[in-house]
Amino acid sequence: MVQVLPGRDAAARDAGQPPGPAVRGGGAALTILETRGIGKTFGSVLALREVSMSVAAGQVLCVLGDNGAGKSTLIKILSGVHRHDAGTYLVDGQEVSFASPREALDRGIATVYQDLAMIPLMSVWRNFFLGSEPRKGLGFDVAKARRVAREELRAMGIDIRDVDQPVGTLSGGERQSVAIARAVHFGARVLILDEPTSALGVKQAGVVLRYIARARDRGLGVVFITHNPHHAFPVGDRFLLLNRGTSMGEYGKDDITAQELTALMAGGAELEELAHELRRE
Ligand SMILES: Nc1ncnc2c1ncn2[C@@H]1O[C@H](COP(=O)(O)OP(=O)(O)OP(=O)(O)O)[C@@H](O)[C@H]1O
Ligand SMILES: [Mg+2]
Repeated sequence: MVQVLPGRDAAARDAGQPPGPAVRGGGAALTILETRGIGKTFGSVLALREVSMSVAAGQVLCVLGDNGAGKSTLIKILSGVHRHDAGTYLVDGQEVSFASPREALDRGIATVYQDLAMIPLMSVWRNFFLGSEPRKGLGFDVAKARRVAREELRAMGIDIRDVDQPVGTLSGGERQSVAIARAVHFGARVLILDEPTSALGVKQAGVVLRYIARARDRGLGVVFITHNPHHAFPVGDRFLLLNRGTSMGEYGKDDITAQELTALMAGGAELEELAHELRRE
């Protein structure tokens, strides 16, 4: 049931997967991340079984599934929080098993979690660097930090009036955007986003989706986890559907419509049953 976008994937396979950075622009995008039949158990809970996926430079893979489907478990394996206990995980065609998020980060795999690890009372620029501030003598090079933060945010099209304002005064969408710009600045090749739009209204979700598209256009591979097919469909190139820890297939955009995606996601039959049950007598 695994379906893929024929054109681009065939080209990527033909190009092989040599170690080293993925090619950007022109030609076929190379696969950066790939899992083959990956699995993970927690004690007696089988959180993930036989899941295969891949993401290439300049491509957005959406991971969809209901609560408990295994989405976070999958991305925690990709980002070095958990080790898989079945299958293989490849980065640039080389098998890996990360012992920590630091190791994943060193390979250019950056993860933006929903709780974001930002300090609300600190300024935007301090949060942008957070521990990696440019130094000058014994202190920070504040002028440089401000300038770089401003430039990077602008390059991503993020319009923040004042980088001295506390992060806590930004909207949820803007905060997600700062986190995305930060990952891009620090050299991410793959950006993993765990439900960045789930707590946001329509307008702010749109803001975040726009930065996902920007990151993609800058050549990053993006793994975008969401419950919401309406958020996934406009920005995704590929869609991996998870259900109770197993894959229900990986679809290219040409292989599935937004309606089909919604029906698969929601468990069409279950929703119909519910509608029936809720009907007035
Ligand atoms: N550290 C853990 N220890 C034990 N069980 C876990 C652990 N992490 C996840 N699980 C279990 O694995 C399954 C998948 O969980 P996971 O968090 O990956 O789902 P999810 O798709 O991210 O769900 P949600 O949409 O609610 O975030 C669940 O049954 C969960 O209880
Ligand atoms: Mg989750």
